[in-house]
Parts: sequence; C-alpha cells; structure tokens
Amino acid sequence: MKQIIGILIFLVTGLLLSFYIGFHFNSKEQDLAFDDEQSGIRKQIVIKFSHVVAENTPKGLAAQKFADLVDQKSNHRVKVEVFPNGSLYSDKEELEALKDGRVQMIAPATSKLEGVSSKWQVLDLPFAFPTETAINDGLNGDIGKSLLASLNSQNIKGLGFWVNGLKQITNKSHAVIHPNDFKGEKFRIMSSNVLKKQFELLGGQSKPMDFNETYRNLESGNVSGEENTISNIYSKKYYRVQDYMTISNHGFLGYALLMNEDYWHSLPAKARLIIQDSIIETVKWNQDHYRSMNKEQLSLIKKESNIQIHELTSKEKKEWIEKLNPIYKQYEPIAGKKLISEIRNIQRKYEKQLFR
Ligand code: LMR
Repeated sequence: MKQIIGILIFLVTGLLLSFYIGFHFNSKEQDLAFDDEQSGIRKQIVIKFSHVVAENTPKGLAAQKFADLVDQKSNHRVKVEVFPNGSLYSDKEELEALKDGRVQMIAPATSKLEGVSSKWQVLDLPFAFPTETAINDGLNGDIGKSLLASLNSQNIKGLGFWVNGLKQITNKSHAVIHPNDFKGEKFRIMSSNVLKKQFELLGGQSKPMDFNETYRNLESGNVSGEENTISNIYSKKYYRVQDYMTISNHGFLGYALLMNEDYWHSLPAKARLIIQDSIIETVKWNQDHYRSMNKEQLSLIKKESNIQIHELTSKEKKEWIEKLNPIYKQYEPIAGKKLISEIRNIQRKYEKQLFR
C-alpha cells in the first residue's frame, strides 16, 4: 500500500511539475511577444494627419477609421491625430508641411500633386474613369503603381489611395447641359492645368482656389459655379448657394495617402507594419462605402433644397466628350504615351457602362 501511495505521489508531483513548467515557459513567451523590446514600439508615437474636408465624407471617415485601427492594433502605442477641415493646414500649405516634417501624414486630392510630378494630372483628364468601378481598376493597377512610385524622389512615401468618387457641376444662373452652356460662367477649380484646360475647351472660365475658400466665393458671386463630388457639395453646403446641379460624372476625385519619407523610415518596423495593415483595411472600407455615401447625400440635398438637378443623357455626355477629346493629345507629351494608353484601355473596357 505504502508503495502504491508513493508511486501516486510521484506521478501527481511529476504531472503538476510538468504543468507548471509548460505554463511558465508558455506565459513567458507570450510576455515576450507583448514586451516593448520585442514589439519595437517603446515610446508612444504620435502621427499628425491633416486634411481639408469635413468629417462626414469618404476621406473624413476613412481618416478616422484609420486612426482607430492603428490605435487598436498598436495597443494604444501609435496615435494618429486627425485634423479635418483644413484646421491645421490648407490645401496650399499641407504638401510643404509634409515635406519639411511639420505634419507626418496628409491625403491631398491627386489633382493637387501636379507640383510633385505632372504625371498626376492624368487622373484629372475628363472622363478618365468612365464609371466608379473603373476607378478601382486604374488605382489598383499599373496607373496607381506608377503614380505612387513618382513620389519616391521627393521625400514622400505614397501609401495608397482613397476615393471620393466622380465629380458633378453646380452653378448659379442656368442649367449646364450642353457645352454651350459653359459660356460666360466661371468655375472654381483645384489648382491643376488639366482642369483649367477642361473648362476652356467647354467654353467657360475657371479660377483656382483653396477648397475651404470656395463657399465664400460662390456666395459672393466671385465664381458662378464649381465641380465636385456630391459628398463635398453636401458637406460644404455649396448646394445652398447654387441653383443648378448637373450629374455629369465627368471627372475623378480621389486621394493619395502620403507620409513624410524620412519619418516613415524612422518608425519602428512594427509600427510600419501596423500602418500598412490599417491602410489596406481602410482602402477596402473606402472602396466599399464611398458610392453609398455620395448616394445618400444626394438624397439629402434633394430633401433639403430646391436645387434643380439634371442628369446628363448618353447623347449629352457624348457632346462633352467630343469637345474635351483634344486634351488627351495635348497632354500626351507631359504624361507620356504609356499612361495615356493605360487610361484609354480602361475607358474602352467600361465604355458600355458609361453610355447606359
Ligand atoms: C477640392 O479641393 O475640391 C478637393 O480636393 C477637396 C478634397 O480634398 O476632397
């Protein structure tokens, strides 16, 4: 009996000991996995992210989602502070502020990158992306890749794209349906030569100005119209100072996600991974949501105002496209044949949907 008890005690002790050892080493491993040294993020990192639009827009919401994801994934060690509505830097200022490190991250409209490389204006070409599904093809493919690569020499790290959608026209005095209707009208544009040329070819005038100065200039009549996506027209209340809107889907509005490159390389590898993962998630989220956001806000504009809305018919769209066609040839020496032919390929692929 004594022998049996002895064996039992021996077995139980052995068992307990092996549990202890197993648990001990296991928990040590887990501790290590979350240890500051292992994770590489030893001090809190704060990334200032400046943008110019309202919070309830595709960019505003994606920026907040990005900040939340980074916070969660880094266990609160990497904080992204989002400054919307140009509260930190205006359109004109933000790119310089990024380059010299006063802000770490921005997401300017691609039209505003003309100064970095004129290639970016390829995305401003009229009807460059015939439909919203064509946009994803272009940005996820060679066009997007070659544009992001063009930033490398400028101390800018291109991390990806978010989309706002396709642009519409608003104006004050009459409905803009045929190219002739542009005559005598002056439109606010983002600072981009292609956009300037676009309005010239349509027979109108244009004036570049900051996004957050547009409302005031529309209200005072300094410009009679503008082009933008529904979410920007809604969130900045342009529809309250304009009487006509044309659903033309004639141009693309989207954003390049940019970080100061020196800053990017100074980050611990773990933080860079977290940022890249969060970008991938928000790019997907943005692509799934920007259309419905613009659609919902179009219903709100209709509900909250008497603005007269005209949707271009296929025949009317063809008139615009014909008038605007020369811009592709004129722009070819700047963008290069390759980029233009990639845009042309996408246009051919989605042509049927454009004229549905
Ligand atoms: C504009 O200036 O119209 C847009 O770039 C604003 C924005 O960032 O969506």
